[in-house]
Amino acid sequence: MATELSIETVVNGQSVHATVPSNRTLSQFLRDDLGLTGTKVSCALELCGTCTVLLDGSPVSACTLLAAEIDGGDVLTVEGLAGSDGELDPLQRAFLDHGAFQCGFCTPGMLLTAKALLARDPDPSEETIREELHGNICRCTGYVPIVEAIQAAARELRR
Ligand code: FES
Ligand code: FES
Repeated sequence: MATELSIETVVNGQSVHATVPSNRTLSQFLRDDLGLTGTKVSCALELCGTCTVLLDGSPVSACTLLAAEIDGGDVLTVEGLAGSDGELDPLQRAFLDHGAFQCGFCTPGMLLTAKALLARDPDPSEETIREELHGNICRCTGYVPIVEAIQAAARELRR
């Protein structure tokens, strides 16, 4: 039987205090305990990038990271990208404008990987964007519109 652990964290700007089993994954915690179902799970093996969220600004795989490991950390999920007034993040707007998704299953992970990239490199080359996305698999759109959307968002953010 898993030990219960107490964690204090921030999720999308909100303080969260919770008790979680030591074997609970971050994706289970986000989706099942907090109702943040925007984080998707596909492989559950840290291979596809679908479950990517940001922990202290860096992309992590929520399918394998344990919820206990976010204790003291700051988590951003796709639900936290838009402003409190509902205005979309420039990346979300650019994905819409460029048709950078079809089924949308990979999109939350793509957005968060791109968010971390643009935070540290406001003008990434196409090569850098493609390299950054190597761990995020899209099965339907193809990567051209996704890369174009990230470039467009980068331009918007630099204005
Ligand atoms: S679901 Fe986490 S990497 Fe695939
Ligand atoms: S839009 Fe369907 S997997 Fe990427």
